[in-house]
Amino acid sequence: MSSSNATALESARPKVFVTRRLPDVGLKIISSRCDPQVWQDRLPPTFEQLLHAVRGCSGLVTLLSDRIDAQVFDAAGPQLRVVSNYAVGVNNIDLPEAIRRGIAVGNTPGVLTDATADMAVTLMLAAARHLKPASDEVRSGNWKTWEPTGWLGCDIAGKTLGIIGMGRIGATVAMRMSGGWNMNVLYMSRSEKPLLGVPFSTRVELDPLLAASDFISIHTNLNDQSRGMIGRREFALMKPNAVLVNTSRGAVIDQDALAEALASRQIFAAGLDVTDPEPLDANHPLVALPNCIIAPHIASATFGTRDAMAEICAKNLIAGLFGEPLPAAVC
Ligand code: DGY
Repeated sequence: MSSSNATALESARPKVFVTRRLPDVGLKIISSRCDPQVWQDRLPPTFEQLLHAVRGCSGLVTLLSDRIDAQVFDAAGPQLRVVSNYAVGVNNIDLPEAIRRGIAVGNTPGVLTDATADMAVTLMLAAARHLKPASDEVRSGNWKTWEPTGWLGCDIAGKTLGIIGMGRIGATVAMRMSGGWNMNVLYMSRSEKPLLGVPFSTRVELDPLLAASDFISIHTNLNDQSRGMIGRREFALMKPNAVLVNTSRGAVIDQDALAEALASRQIFAAGLDVTDPEPLDANHPLVALPNCIIAPHIASATFGTRDAMAEICAKNLIAGLFGEPLPAAVC
């Protein structure tokens, strides 16, 4: 093959780096049009390894655990056209820098709404009913007998649910809980959401939401306004029976303040799918608290959802590489 033919073939199959193995459906789409290098380890590449691997790439497929910033863009080179994030959240990517350089960024909205809403509901129910420590008691052989006042948890039906961030996922949680559990829904959001059709829901500011809610579920993006949004002042406003659930990003909550609020029973329980950092240090006080259940960021981890994410992610990548609008564009 002549060198000019080889170059033509090379440019027809752009070089891309995929920072972890995705479900096959996504990798197949990527491999059909690109020349992918896929990071095979279960653990992510270190930042140094990432800088090395992206060299000369026109496209990147990244995860929420990969920091993608000016250094990565520089290391890749000026031919970098697109970063396709295998997540709906894009707080791991320096978006202003991507915009400045004309690099397209895509994400995976919509397809993980149901799975994430299901996880928020799961955490609400599990935290309210002590599911983790109660089940541990059985597993360890320490459960002795049925007790009239053993393992008493919170009632859910008819109570008040506060949703912080009424986007697709927040609205889906609200629909499930207002429809299925007859909950009264309060929500905090930048805009009124009349089209989401959540019955019996009222838009309020943060403080009245915290003060009135029996359950609080966080669905906001992580940004400068939401980072550390729930801290000591906010826990002091909550009811002693409040159950706090977070399936958005860990850094929205001041975790030391949450540990204090749980340990002192200022609030009843918490269910977290996300922490900051991930994983949380096993010695962090939250990990040992019986009224805190922590899952390893698995809200979108269903077979169908992860396949659908892989498909959108691959399509975003291909579109960006071949100069078409991304099906799910962030910028
Ligand atoms: C996301 O997509 O942002 C979730 O946190 C992981 O699926």
